[in-house]
Amino acid sequence: MTGASKPAILIARAVFPEVESRLRAHFEVETTPAGMVWSPDELVQRLQGKSGVLTTGGERIDAGLLAACPTLRIAANLAVGYNNFDLAAMSVAGVLGTNAPDVLTETTADFGFALLMATARRVTESERFLRAGQWNQWSLDLFAGAEVHGTTLGILGMGRIGRAIARRGAHGFGMQVLYHNRSRLDEASEADCRARYVSKAELLAQADHLVLVLPYTPEAHHSIGAAEIAQMKPSATLVNIARGGIVDDAALARALRERRIAAAGLDVFEGEPRVHPDLLNVPNVVLTPHIASATLPTRMAMAMLAADNLIAYLTEGRALTPLNPDVIKAAT
Ligand code: DGY
Repeated sequence: MTGASKPAILIARAVFPEVESRLRAHFEVETTPAGMVWSPDELVQRLQGKSGVLTTGGERIDAGLLAACPTLRIAANLAVGYNNFDLAAMSVAGVLGTNAPDVLTETTADFGFALLMATARRVTESERFLRAGQWNQWSLDLFAGAEVHGTTLGILGMGRIGRAIARRGAHGFGMQVLYHNRSRLDEASEADCRARYVSKAELLAQADHLVLVLPYTPEAHHSIGAAEIAQMKPSATLVNIARGGIVDDAALARALRERRIAAAGLDVFEGEPRVHPDLLNVPNVVLTPHIASATLPTRMAMAMLAADNLIAYLTEGRALTPLNPDVIKAAT
């Protein structure tokens, strides 16, 4: 293939050099400097003449952008979640969307558990106390947290990551696992992660630790708000590794301040990277900057999968993890 005949693509956020090199073997590549985030207008500008884009979940691909970028054929998301894609509009425009599932499942489940543990056992709150030089006080209940082993783990959203968290809870920590999901798992899957299907109301009422792992959809917006928090145990912890917007962050901050639940661990936020200021001012919340899948091997695997989707589609008309395969069918 000569340089001139290579399709042009945009890497919308900086990726590892190995991923960039892989893409350069097939495409004319425009990259983005490390740390740079394009505004929607800049993104449109940079996508002119491009056949593909590698996105990270922060770039919205909607009807407006598609109309302004008529050469675009594929957007490959470097994330399993794809609520930044308007898939219906992409299908109408004949633009394929792909995501990066599976390669991050176990890593993300590890983090879900890490956040649960840090939240229940008050890890960051106690570290702040130590760093502030306050460890000249001691009492028997100093940073006494909630028990984890042997308690009831609730999981809202039982996809691959939810099941991996369930296995950790059941097999590793002897927890009773309850879950609620749009559809119930088959018997074998329930047995594998020793999880019992319950209504959302029962999940809220019974869970000692409630982990949210459902995908963001308009219907899932504020799945956990003041009314749902009111149904939880006052001693419960809430962990959100799903998406911002699934929890009403203002209502949660209020509930944490008033101790209507014990604590929360949040990796995702409404309107991130902004964080609701009230959350920054309550002590009983652990806050992390959307890092659940962030280990180097996993981020490399996610980026390589996104790159491989771009390569497969733009050079061979197929994709590894297509979200709207109707586009592939229509093109053949
Ligand atoms: C995902 O892949 O959707 C995770 O949230 C990491 O971005």
